[in-house]
Amino acid sequence: LEASAKSEIDKAITSDELEKARVKYLGKKGELTEVLRGMGSLSPEERPIVGKVANEVRASIEASLQAAKENIKGKELQQKLKSETIDVTMPGKQFKIGKKHPLTQGMDELKDIFIGMGFKVVEGPEVDTVYYNFDALNSPKNHPSRDMSDTFYITEDILLRCHTSTVQIRTMEKLKPPIRIISPGRCFRNDTPDATHSPMFYQLEGLVVDKGITLGDLKGTLEVFVKHFFGGHTKIKFRPHNFPFTEPSAEVDASCFKCSGEGCSVCKGSGWIELLGCGMVHPNVLSNCGIDPEVYSGFAFGMGIDRLIMNKYEIDDIRLLFENDIRFLNQF
Ligand code: PHE
Repeated sequence: LEASAKSEIDKAITSDELEKARVKYLGKKGELTEVLRGMGSLSPEERPIVGKVANEVRASIEASLQAAKENIKGKELQQKLKSETIDVTMPGKQFKIGKKHPLTQGMDELKDIFIGMGFKVVEGPEVDTVYYNFDALNSPKNHPSRDMSDTFYITEDILLRCHTSTVQIRTMEKLKPPIRIISPGRCFRNDTPDATHSPMFYQLEGLVVDKGITLGDLKGTLEVFVKHFFGGHTKIKFRPHNFPFTEPSAEVDASCFKCSGEGCSVCKGSGWIELLGCGMVHPNVLSNCGIDPEVYSGFAFGMGIDRLIMNKYEIDDIRLLFENDIRFLNQF
């Protein structure tokens, strides 16, 4: 029995064949197991002798099985390694890594500049009330921007904000001066889309309120900002303007920052580009928010971020920013 078991074990090439041999001899119905089971019918004298031999045979078969098992395992591993060789000289797979949208990149840059000047970033809701979008901002009841043809209304009192100035009010209601915040975000106006208009666009609002804030502070802040964003040679110019929520109000232009031998592609000859609206916070607006205009003063500004980024990167159609065409986005 031992000899035939060993010869079968030697012949086994795969783990399966080896297992079959094990079951045949040592399994529950195996040949050796049968012998051990039959011991009951032996005489008391024969029993220990047969038992001893049977146990020796079992140990010997088990040892052979173990040796064969290791041998086969080694061979199978060798084979596996051979069939699964890896060519380490093959070029690796390129992972596609996403990038930030040019608007997000520009927004991050703007935030960094203002955070560097001590501003905090505050956000507000895109769906807001007539109170925050117009009334609290001292906007007269007959102001043209209140018209349905300019602003998207959801109900009579609820609308999609048409500027980020809503966040001025929400902030002044909550915080005591000194206040120094910027608020970037989406705004909505009932405009027909074309190369320079989109019914959804981005603004960044700035607000500073403290004792003794002057127009000089506004000018200095904006100068630092444009020099960081467009380059150190950039100049700004104030043009008188009118906003209900600031007095005095101004529009600010920046000097052309991208000129080549062929002229100034962005400024189209004038040498200046329109940058933003700003002014000293109107005393009525401060009062509406519970801030005493006799004690405190402030300035505010608001700019269209899309146009700013279009100018900086010479993008000639605002719609490109929202179409998410990968051929466009890959350029940034
Ligand atoms: N809210 C104005 C606009 O959307 C911009 C602005 C903001 C002007 C703050 C003055 C002060 O055009």
